[in-house]
Amino acid sequence: MGKILITGGAGYIASHTNVELVKEGYDLILADNFCNSSREAVRRVGELTGKELSLYEVDLKNIEELRALFDREPDITAVIHFAALKAVGESVAKPLMYYENNITGSLNLYRVMDEKGVKQLVFSSSATVYGDPATVPVREDFPVHATNPYGQTKLMMEQILMDAAKARGWDVTILRYFNPVGAHDSGRIGEDPEYPNNLLPFVSQVAAGIREKVMVFGNDWDTPDGTGVRDYIHVVDLAKAHVKALERLKVKGGVSIFNIGTGKGYSVLEMIEAFSRICGHPVPYEFGPRRSGDIATVYGDPTLAKRELGWEAELGLEEMVASAWKWQSLNPKGYRG
Ligand code: NAD
Ligand code: WQD
Repeated sequence: MGKILITGGAGYIASHTNVELVKEGYDLILADNFCNSSREAVRRVGELTGKELSLYEVDLKNIEELRALFDREPDITAVIHFAALKAVGESVAKPLMYYENNITGSLNLYRVMDEKGVKQLVFSSSATVYGDPATVPVREDFPVHATNPYGQTKLMMEQILMDAAKARGWDVTILRYFNPVGAHDSGRIGEDPEYPNNLLPFVSQVAAGIREKVMVFGNDWDTPDGTGVRDYIHVVDLAKAHVKALERLKVKGGVSIFNIGTGKGYSVLEMIEAFSRICGHPVPYEFGPRRSGDIATVYGDPTLAKRELGWEAELGLEEMVASAWKWQSLNPKGYRG
């Protein structure tokens, strides 16, 4: 079995995926430019797995750095492509930075894969590609539509990859993640945003007293309690979907797209209540205006992933919130403290 290149290998989802892959016996090569991560995460994955990981400081925007990596690691046979910038609001303010990083980075990767004859790839896509869907749950064959530059980059990266796969006979699995949350049950690795954009890291920091209160973005949505509904997925479940995706690439070629979610939606208030229950004290919140670009409800239909990948989410809301709280409590400053 060849080696697996993990782009963005020090990031949140990659760290959890790396733990599962090493457990299954995969040999990994990590590449990251640390624009949103740290070496400490990789060190801790090594500690959890008992195996030191090969790590290259590489910026995907620099094709020469990528070529040098592939030259030094001729046994790479497949890639999991996590590396991207992912903050929606920042992408609206700095679209060129997002297009350059996510599109140029991906083009460079695909070009070097082509030069080196690497033909298998698992791609981190996002439920953001469904935009504001007409109905839920969303299926993989629903129309795609981007509502911000970040979403555009994910759509473009999917399209470029599908065209390259067709032209070159690559085997590609596109995983459309819903809302990844939670952490490894050891409490050693987790999500580490200094300034959170997403709901659960924000709620965690409020619960820990780092921030004063959660601002709930609107309570007048067309949902049962008026707050936004999303399909939160435990990051360890999500990590395991990548193991399944790699296994399937060995036996099934072509391009496949899978929703990776639980199929269940929870509201913002349900998430805050679950967190309050787990941490043992109320998490203060206040209703504020809607956030620009938000939608009322999205959750996925994960049937195809179950049927074709043999994957389904096993962990529920309690485990998501409890693991997020454990990570937050044990690492109040994330990897920085
Ligand atoms: P993350 O920021 O923790 O991980 C991304 C990693 O890629 C970081 O370590 C960053 O330093 C690295 N990176 C970015 N640009 C790079 C470049 N040019 N060269 C080398 N490394 C680079 O984010 P994450 O939450 O782990 O997300 C991983 C992937 O999953 C991303 O592609 C993201 O778009 C996608 N995704 C994330 C979510 C989410 O809510 N977290 C949801 C859907 C999809
Ligand atoms: C969840 C709910 C907010 C923060 C984003 C990206 C998506 C994907 C996942 C990468 C919504 C509400 C949030 C807060 C709040 N990322 N909220 N107060 O917007 O569903 O998805 O992350 O691919 O592309 O768009 O996730 O966690 O930001 O919001 O009330 O402080 O929580 O309005 O209803 P979202 P989120």
